[in-house]
Amino acid sequence: MESVENQLSHLDNTMIRDKLLSDDIFDLVSANMLPLKTLMAYYQCAIMEVETKFRVLNEEFSLQYDRNPIESIKTRLKSIEGILKKLRRKNLPLTLASIEQEIRDVAGIRVICSFKEDIYMLANCLLEQDDITLIERKDYIEHPKESGYRSLHLIIEVPIFLQNEKRPMKVEVQLRTIAMDFWASLEHKLRYKKNIPAEQLDELSRELYSCAENIASIDERMNGIHIQMERTLAEQEAENKKKKWPLLPGLS
Ligand code: GTP
Ligand code: MG
Repeated sequence: MESVENQLSHLDNTMIRDKLLSDDIFDLVSANMLPLKTLMAYYQCAIMEVETKFRVLNEEFSLQYDRNPIESIKTRLKSIEGILKKLRRKNLPLTLASIEQEIRDVAGIRVICSFKEDIYMLANCLLEQDDITLIERKDYIEHPKESGYRSLHLIIEVPIFLQNEKRPMKVEVQLRTIAMDFWASLEHKLRYKKNIPAEQLDELSRELYSCAENIASIDERMNGIHIQMERTLAEQEAENKKKKWPLLPGLS
């Protein structure tokens, strides 16, 4: 004879299948999931739009000046879990409207450059484009965070073009140098590790702050070397052009 436990577990499974996983429940879940999944797809499209804009700028620079201002691009779509946690943390209603209005970093793109001047050049080129709206600009390079964190942050709105609609979507853009990125990855790891004793955490944070200062000074020096090299190369090129194509007498 079947044990009572077995009978109960059998009953459990039947109940789950018949009651909980009924068509009604499926409908209920998908009715709520579809709008959220659609919104997430829109954010993914916005990421693609902004990523393409940066890739186009990089390509143009490569053709014009024979160098790539962008080292690499990383993109990420915030997880639904992450979005819900943030809504809860900020005491916001769990609605699609509040996600769109209040959460500005669902779509994230990180642009890593070799040189500091390229960060500002790329940010300006992006912001000059007539379909981009600047919502917020935070310059953590000029004004580093207490931790030592440095990056240029932009919250922008970019339109995505759907079948019957043009929809502005918010995207968080972080621009930083390779060195700033190296630093931020390690510091992020430290901040999210739960098992480091408070005393050691303080010590490591101080050490990281000092590294951030050193990195900023190295970034500055590398930027200086880069500018000097570019200047000399440009002057030489102009000289060579003059030699090849001397101006006709009377022209200046
Ligand atoms: P969030 O609500 O956490 O997104 O912060 P916020 O809206 O005040 O934006 P903020 O510009 O301060 O930072 C947004 C993002 O920048 C974070 O999600 C991180 O990716 C990065 N960031 C900011 N501060 C730090 C920092 O001290 N260390 C590291 N590693 N990353 C940081
Ligand atoms: Mg964030």
